[in-house]
Amino acid sequence: MKCRKCGERALISLRRHNAGFCKEHFNEFFVRQVEKAIKKYEMFDYSDKIMVCISGGKDSLVLWYLLHKMGFDTTGMYVNLGIGEYSEKSLEKVKAFSEKHGLKSIIVNLTQLGHPITLMEKRVKRTACAICGTTKRHYFNKVAHENNFDIVATGHNLDDEAARLLGNTMRWYPEYLGKMSPALSADSQIKKKVKPLIRLTELEVGAYAFMNGIYYIADECPKSVGATSMIYKNALNTLETEMPGTKHYFYSEFVKNVAHKFEREETEKKEMHICSICGIESFLEVCTFCKMLEKIK
Ligand code: FES
Ligand code: ZN
Ligand code: ZN
Repeated sequence: MKCRKCGERALISLRRHNAGFCKEHFNEFFVRQVEKAIKKYEMFDYSDKIMVCISGGKDSLVLWYLLHKMGFDTTGMYVNLGIGEYSEKSLEKVKAFSEKHGLKSIIVNLTQLGHPITLMEKRVKRTACAICGTTKRHYFNKVAHENNFDIVATGHNLDDEAARLLGNTMRWYPEYLGKMSPALSADSQIKKKVKPLIRLTELEVGAYAFMNGIYYIADECPKSVGATSMIYKNALNTLETEMPGTKHYFYSEFVKNVAHKFEREETEKKEMHICSICGIESFLEVCTFCKMLEKIK
């Protein structure tokens, strides 16, 4: 196959776009998709201070690399979850990446704070992934708020969000379906939470990382084995093989035409509180994270 732009040998073929690209033109295509997402969903501009949540995986490192390259004011934020070798390896990738590109990052270490995920999962009756999600969200919000970041950016890609949408649809969770936009006005403490890779698939992000020498941790988190999100991703991949473009339409048309029907009216919105323990905004007087921590004590 030949590159659609220059006719040279294509390194990647994208069936949903019915096109192949050489390295140079794939990079151009990739950046354009990110620019389109930022503009279309009014995510942020050059005056914003952006905190990029990084895990050491391909998506978050590619996102950080690109936003920095595009000239945005970025800082990485990494939570060391304390999940044995997996966390050690991912921290190594994050450190190596920051050093290589001269980028600054903030690191929160759950083991040093006395509550690694491996300890929390023994004391709290929820799955490790659920505990981890609440914990990461808590620290993302806390660090962003305390350091006056305007924007919290995460590396979720099209596969992640289409799978989440499918999961929320299969169970008809109106509360979650109302929060599927790639740019959510967060709360009074942070301006927006955004997902600039939303127009790109996992495969495209992986190819971009490979072509641009971005070294990431390829291992999946050991706690995610058997996660339902993988089942939804596999189902969508089957559909995508038969009908290229399905994932994108499923997600983007939902956001465009349906999501607003699930959004709560201003008057129906639950009252927000400032958690009396950690000072972070929450629907509850004591947030879920602080309640979990009490169990550890
Ligand atoms: Fe959170 Fe695996 S990354 S439990
Ligand atoms: Zn080309
Ligand atoms: Zn709290």
